[in-house]
Amino acid sequence: MTGFSADWLALREPFDVAARDDALARAFLARVPEGGRVVDLGAGAGSNIGRLRALAAQEGRRLSWLHVDDDEALLATARRRFAGDDAVAFARLDLAAALEAALDGAAAVTCAALVDLVSGEWIARFAAALAARRLPLLAVLTYDGRMEWTPADASDPVVARAFHRDMVRDKGFGAALGPDSAFALDEALRAHGATTTLRDSDWRIAAADEAMLGAMLGGIGEAASRAARGDEGRAIAAWATRRARQRAAGALSLVVGHQDLDASWR
Ligand SMILES: C[S@@+](CC[C@H](N)C(=O)[O-])C[C@H]1O[C@@H](n2cnc3c(N)ncnc32)[C@H](O)[C@@H]1O
Repeated sequence: MTGFSADWLALREPFDVAARDDALARAFLARVPEGGRVVDLGAGAGSNIGRLRALAAQEGRRLSWLHVDDDEALLATARRRFAGDDAVAFARLDLAAALEAALDGAAAVTCAALVDLVSGEWIARFAAALAARRLPLLAVLTYDGRMEWTPADASDPVVARAFHRDMVRDKGFGAALGPDSAFALDEALRAHGATTTLRDSDWRIAAADEAMLGAMLGGIGEAASRAARGDEGRAIAAWATRRARQRAAGALSLVVGHQDLDASWR
């Protein structure tokens, strides 16, 4: 288990869909030859394939998809989602070990909300593998370190600092790059000669999005507390209490910064 529940992925999906840069995705899809296989790494419950498939269908394109993940429960959820669609195949692989095997037969590669989990070493390996195969990449929804609460709170920077410290824990790929990862991947791909575009794809979580705000407060508060140093723990607990009160009063909103990255080869 990697710890991402199908419920959490379902909760975030509408925010992902609203945040994604569809123009970038269309440019990526235009590079995939008809019938070509798009490999989705860390595909979870199928949100990224679902969105890309819908965009391809709008252009009258029918591509094939390989859904790769190492979490059996999420694979089962995705199999149910795409039941009866023979354009979607599935592979259970640990991408820390079997990245190159996952790319076998690919015409293009995509991933969503994966890159902020991986290490600098894995990013270098990923960029080299894509360059060697000249594979286009669309890597969407990588957290980029921006967390903008409204109203602002004096302890927001303390919470963000501790949260980012927690993010760089090893998630199975070596110490994660967290908020720096989209920019590191962009740089690594350009060093191999890729042409890249980075675009903001921010979650906009309004006061009315109570369930998502609750999940964000819970997840961020818990991660920040886990990584707290010295008296940060006390500041984070007091922050969580204030934020919970504001959420209950419908007086809290949040923007979470993400990056969508498109890479191609001349
Ligand atoms: C934040 S979730 C994103 C899921 C999906 N791409 C989406 O956007 O909804 C990260 C995904 O990466 C997968 N993952 C994490 N480590 C992995 C590994 N070592 N090998 C394969 N998949 C992995 C998790 O199981 C999870 O589905």
